[in-house]
Amino acid sequence: MKIIIKLLSVLTLLISVAWAVTEFTYEPLIVSLGSVAAFIGVFYREKQKRKFYAREQAALFYGKIANDYDERNTQFLKESHINTVKHLKKAIDELDSASVLDLGGGTGINVAAHFFNRTNVTWNYVDASSEMKTAFEKNVEMADFKFTTKMSDLNEFLNSCEEKFDAIVVSFVLTSLPYPFDIKKAASLLKPNGSLIIADIEPEYTAKFPEYTVRVGTEYHSLLVSPVNALDLIEKGLNENLQLKFCQSIKKNDGQRYAYVVHMTQPLV
Ligand SMILES: C[S@@+](CC[C@H](N)C(=O)[O-])C[C@H]1O[C@@H](n2cnc3c(N)ncnc32)[C@H](O)[C@@H]1O
Repeated sequence: MKIIIKLLSVLTLLISVAWAVTEFTYEPLIVSLGSVAAFIGVFYREKQKRKFYAREQAALFYGKIANDYDERNTQFLKESHINTVKHLKKAIDELDSASVLDLGGGTGINVAAHFFNRTNVTWNYVDASSEMKTAFEKNVEMADFKFTTKMSDLNEFLNSCEEKFDAIVVSFVLTSLPYPFDIKKAASLLKPNGSLIIADIEPEYTAKFPEYTVRVGTEYHSLLVSPVNALDLIEKGLNENLQLKFCQSIKKNDGQRYAYVVHMTQPLV
């Protein structure tokens, strides 16, 4: 598509200049000036700074976009977050005190913020990006819940963690990981009846839009994300004896699947 636009702009420029040379009047001159502007526009856009990040560089990517992250929430992303929060609340509402592990917690605005006023909650935050962690720490300054923060790769954290949690939330993180999510390990960190809540972009949407691009000032940053199938996660969870509580696909207005939320629990005994 980009090549076609470039070719068209070159062709229009050549034709309009040829017209202006053969017939030196206002009309072809104005058309020529217009096509020169379009030509410059097309090639200038191409020259704009654009940086690509592999999933191994996700922390770098999220560091670049951390300050702009919360300005980018679409209606459908919000719908996914509302669902995640609803299920997390269900998971801990009955408990006198609850410990939540938030893997790849970002700025905390989308999920953690809904628990800021819960004095009986301990929020354990993990993120690979120091900029995201700083943003989270700023956002929780006024929060009433207890919290811990750790800058760490998700897998490294899971492999070194010995604590158990009432709920683990992994919201829009898995498509950024350079390795498969270790459900076995995550399940082992859940207390009896503990909940694992995962939300992410539907694989068909990720396959269609494999670049997660964010504009920061005049620069464009693109993370090359990878599809993660909810059914695979559920299958792996069931293999680890987790029970499926809920699964929903959030669709766009045209019916296209956009994101999913999966809630699985550890059996009581
Ligand atoms: C799309 S944001 C989601 C943030 C938050 N969970 C939410 O729903 O708003 C993905 C987050 O995962 C973090 N992340 C990406 N790769 C990670 C990894 N390998 N280990 C830990 N965190 C990671 C990023 O730094 C970023 O904060």
